[in-house]
Amino acid sequence: MSNPIDQFLKWWERACVDSPLRQRSAVCVSTIDRDGFPAARFVDLKSVSNEGIVFCTYLDSAKGKEINHCNKVALTAWWDHLGYQVRVTGRAYPLSEEVADRYWKTRTRDAQITTHVCEQSQPLKDPQDLYAKVEEYTQLDTSEPNVKPTNWGGYAIEAHRIEFLTFKEDRLHLRELFTLNSGVWSKSYLQP
Ligand SMILES: Cc1cc2nc3c(=O)[nH]c(=O)nc-3n(C[C@H](O)[C@H](O)[C@H](O)COP(=O)(O)O)c2cc1C
Repeated sequence: MSNPIDQFLKWWERACVDSPLRQRSAVCVSTIDRDGFPAARFVDLKSVSNEGIVFCTYLDSAKGKEINHCNKVALTAWWDHLGYQVRVTGRAYPLSEEVADRYWKTRTRDAQITTHVCEQSQPLKDPQDLYAKVEEYTQLDTSEPNVKPTNWGGYAIEAHRIEFLTFKEDRLHLRELFTLNSGVWSKSYLQP
């Protein structure tokens, strides 16, 4: 396959079939913090296309602030049941309000309420305080949870390097590397 985005999509679709995982679309997104350290965490992969590799989050979370400061990111996936690893490097760009709104509407009401109540990445004195706030919010007879908070959205990663590793028990892994130069992907191999 000459387009790594197509290959990523194919592998992800394959990974979602018969996955032993409950969170089948979890991938690790790494940002760079203010001190230059990598900061990695799992997020849900939302879509993979030539428009970018998309995940959703709070724009004012730690990761959101880090991306705002430096949008160089990495994304890593490991699908054990297939023996596939994918490593992406690129730049993250915020989704438009319209696109973010579409993803917002796919969230369950519970997830929408949680998103309204939480200030992601901020310190929390006592988790009970948050549970009480969620409970209080849940009782409200309002359609507000349907409305996307302005600090929630997502990012599309524009990849310029994607590596696919097919795991082999004898460690003779196949490593296919795609790099984007002047809008054209080229493929090479790396030793395992
Ligand atoms: C399986 C899994 C999926 C997650 N999906 C998301 C997600 O899609 N968006 C998100 O903001 N956080 C998600 N989280 C929580 C993040 O890992 C992280 O704790 C949170 O985004 C705060 O990160 P930050 O403080 O570095 O911004 C997920 C966690 C796990 C374990």
